[in-house]
Amino acid sequence: MRIDKLPPIRTTLRDSDHPYLTGAWTPLHEEVTAHDLPVLEGAVPADLDGVYLRNTENQIHQPLGRYHPFDGDAMIHQLDFRRGQVSYRNRYVRTRCLAAEQEAGGSLWGGLMDPPGTSLRAGFGAHGSLKDSSSTDITLHAGVALSTFYQCGEAYRLDPETLDTLGIADWAPLEGVSAHPKVDSATGELMFFNYSKHAPYMHYGVVDRNGRLTSYTPIPLPGPRLPHDMAITARHSILNDLPAFWDRDLLAQNVHAVRMHDLPSRFGVIPRHGSAEQLRWFEAAPTYVLHFLNAYEREHEIVMDGYFQENPTPRPRKDAASSYAHMMAYLDEHSFRSRLHRWRFDLRTGRTREEPLDDRILEFGMINQQYTGVPNRYVYSSKAKPGWFLFVGFVKHDLQTGRSWEIELGANRYASEAPFAPRVGARDEDDGYLVSFVTDENTGTSECILIDAKRFADGPVCRIGLPHKICSGTHAHWAARPFRS
Ligand SMILES: [Fe+2]
Repeated sequence: MRIDKLPPIRTTLRDSDHPYLTGAWTPLHEEVTAHDLPVLEGAVPADLDGVYLRNTENQIHQPLGRYHPFDGDAMIHQLDFRRGQVSYRNRYVRTRCLAAEQEAGGSLWGGLMDPPGTSLRAGFGAHGSLKDSSSTDITLHAGVALSTFYQCGEAYRLDPETLDTLGIADWAPLEGVSAHPKVDSATGELMFFNYSKHAPYMHYGVVDRNGRLTSYTPIPLPGPRLPHDMAITARHSILNDLPAFWDRDLLAQNVHAVRMHDLPSRFGVIPRHGSAEQLRWFEAAPTYVLHFLNAYEREHEIVMDGYFQENPTPRPRKDAASSYAHMMAYLDEHSFRSRLHRWRFDLRTGRTREEPLDDRILEFGMINQQYTGVPNRYVYSSKAKPGWFLFVGFVKHDLQTGRSWEIELGANRYASEAPFAPRVGARDEDDGYLVSFVTDENTGTSECILIDAKRFADGPVCRIGLPHKICSGTHAHWAARPFRS
């Protein structure tokens, strides 16, 4: 393996026993480019052409208060597949906050679990006091990779080949951009939302294939909400107003405490280029939804799949150290109990029908992105280790037949989110691979695995060694070439 290292970043982080600064969540502070990676099993497919992009949280400086993994600085890892050859690189997203903390030589902002007064400078995000670390999501739009922050941040553009940070997206509004903007591969448009503590509490926007903001619409809500994701069909976008949000009385004292309110879930269906007057709200059973899988139109209905949480505000985990027990529960799929679920919005009657699709605790799902907004047959979900934000396996569902296939990665082996990468010249929806990084805590190493989606239960068909152990994180994306179509 040939490894080129970048000059080291200045870090002040000290060793600790924090559950999300150790083990598979140990921050990595090294940036490298690596060629001639060892193929540990199988062969690198010649019919993959694109990059797997993975956003991870790698805290650089000693936290001012209590660290939460979503506070960490964004690092993008890339595995580049081209004509049977692979190369690897990882780079920090050079955010304005990272630059400021490098200059200061330490942390300037408190985190999600800290009182707002912890920050030494004015903060960002809906919360208002956080570092915009851009460490949540990663997608590709208008030929560039785009990293985003779940609390609404500035949206950073990166070269998908070199991972050089190109700056802030110039279309990003002052109120910021939430994680999980959605790209329609047919039109090249990007749909996004943001949310805040100030009326109208939400905005919805559309950016065209050339990176031009073509609409930006206020979405009036009854108060501050905490949406995390949205869905799109070919003609509509689906926003949400869910009953798990900051307690109003505590928020007035600047305390950000989430509680479940005695309210239904509401899903707002708006024509893609529509106005707030055209928004229609559909009521549904109370829940919180971290992630949606897809939505599409079928006759007079909009069908939307995602993960329904049975217990959106879980009690602190008794098996965790008391100072982390609350955080551990909110990071644990088995505490909030998320399951595959379908909502159907009847555009004639305004009614919602909904049904669970599987009993298993699942989240962090992916589909073939070519099917975003149109009917899809297959979904791929992640299974987590009980008590932990660590993925131990994947489940493929055929929603047409109801069949499913499941794989586990083995003891102490933890995956990253696994997008579907279509084979070059793919003939149908599941003709391709699931791509994931796996950190093996038995050996202290990381690798990239490929799972043939048509032979899912066979497990990885190819394993490629990485030059260092990477830190776990949140979202990943497959960007097929050409990046700009
Ligand atoms: Fe997310």
